[in-house]
Amino acid sequence: MNPAELRLLVASGPPREWLDPVRFISNPSTGRTGWSLATLGLDRFREVVFVSGPGLRQYGSVDGAHNVAVDTTEEMMNAVHDHLADQTLLIMSAAPADYTPAEPRDKKMKKVPGDPLTLTLKPTSDILKSIIPLADRYKQLYRVGFAAETNNVREYAARKLREKQLDFICANEVYKGQRGFGENENSLLVIDKSDDSMKLGPGDKEDLARELLNYLIQRIP
Ligand code: CTP
Repeated sequence: MNPAELRLLVASGPPREWLDPVRFISNPSTGRTGWSLATLGLDRFREVVFVSGPGLRQYGSVDGAHNVAVDTTEEMMNAVHDHLADQTLLIMSAAPADYTPAEPRDKKMKKVPGDPLTLTLKPTSDILKSIIPLADRYKQLYRVGFAAETNNVREYAARKLREKQLDFICANEVYKGQRGFGENENSLLVIDKSDDSMKLGPGDKEDLARELLNYLIQRIP
């Protein structure tokens, strides 16, 4: 496939799940990988759509792309659905929340001194799984996910590829003695539907994004 005939749709960054008007649950994803993919994609794809949750400000939008800012996982899912189309490469590099407060408050919660606080969370929608029943509507919609794992990297990633019906999954190991999503040199293991894999890197997130785009462009039929 000539990438100039394809659209690139990237979802990036960490959505927020609000407990009350001043508190939310989120994660330390910066959005740098998604931002790098979308930026590098500008020269290569027909159009780039960048759906971004609130990560670091410098990775929140891409000059030259169609930028869609979202706040919650549900908003991110709706934005991804709105921008699905024929001949699209979707890369879900975002770190959506798996759970959201079951009963968010519309007024600031007050503390009860000395008492513990128990939060009840309910599952969010899985964005990639939500696309499975829609995928047949589109010609040449390719789906790529990420899997950040602390252990059993290949096994867990391969399971996500199957369960989310992806064309490729990019697995990386995180938390090697640190918190976060691997801010240092890292490598990616890209697994396809036939369980063939390719190791990319090591490199920083921008190097890996470049290698990943090159690999996907060469592999997409
Ligand atoms: N993902 C998604 N919707 C969610 C959660 C994750 O589409 N609600 C996507 C991520 O963007 C990523 C892939 O699914 O591309 C795997 O995400 P990850 O957080 O590694 O795995 P989960 O499916 O959330 O499973 P677990 O947290 O149990 O490892």
